[in-house]
Amino acid sequence: MAVLDAGTGSGILACLAARAGARVVYAVDQADILEAARGVVERSGLAAQVRLLRGDFRDIRLPEPVDLVITETFGAWALAEAGLEDLVTTCQNNLAPGGKVLPGAVELWLGPVGDLAPLEEALGPFSRYEGVHLDALIPTALRRGITTTLLPEHLAGPGRRLCSVPLPSRLPCGGRVRFEAERITGLGCWFQLDLGEGYSLSTHPSAPLTHWRHHFLPLPLECGGELALEVEIEPAKEDRRGLEISLSWQTATQQGQAWYRLR
Ligand SMILES: C[S@@+](CC[C@H](N)C(=O)[O-])C[C@H]1O[C@@H](n2cnc3c(N)ncnc32)[C@H](O)[C@@H]1O
Repeated sequence: MAVLDAGTGSGILACLAARAGARVVYAVDQADILEAARGVVERSGLAAQVRLLRGDFRDIRLPEPVDLVITETFGAWALAEAGLEDLVTTCQNNLAPGGKVLPGAVELWLGPVGDLAPLEEALGPFSRYEGVHLDALIPTALRRGITTTLLPEHLAGPGRRLCSVPLPSRLPCGGRVRFEAERITGLGCWFQLDLGEGYSLSTHPSAPLTHWRHHFLPLPLECGGELALEVEIEPAKEDRRGLEISLSWQTATQQGQAWYRLR
């Protein structure tokens, strides 16, 4: 089997694919980390199988079509860092007909957060300081998704799957979800990678913590029992590696809209 590891970084996934029996693994990265990956590959005795290639994997034309593309180029709420978008052309140019991509899909999840701590973390830096009214920045801070660690007890109810995005595909994506909640301080964001054959990796607050941690969108709201959301996610206009999240919300008595930037 021929494999492409798109965005190989440390080379770990390329090495694991080689150890699992791949005939050849093309390990591509555009960053200097590729030289460190060379050491990982050589010291693991896998230099005959793993071919390290420097470049942008959007432009790469491999010497042969591959049966499998593996990638871990996920950022905040999985989709920041533009890994999903970058994968489209590399798969068009290099994936054999019938070939697979791993992960096969990314599920985006949202949960109602009732606890004050994540909201305080989001707004905390914007208080009055030495007579300077940083609190004037609070409306801006409310539009900024933050990276944080959510605990299961921060949630005011169970999360819901917003959408499942197959790889490769392009943004925008989104969906609708409905929560039962009396009041919330914001929305918790996590994701699940579909690794095939019944395997998956979830970043749910009750799952083992990963380097992605979780993300929190401030939305202090009296819901009075029910909250319905419609969400759309697209690349940020002036920063393709960031995300813009637009949200329409409705409770029993009010409705509104909110926008966030996440990176
Ligand atoms: C989150 S790191 C993970 C790397 C690796 N899977 C690991 O576990 O060490 C993502 C890597 O993808 C690379 N990358 C992202 N987009 C790329 C692109 N379009 N072309 C080449 N490399 C890219 C980055 O330089 C970075 O090294």
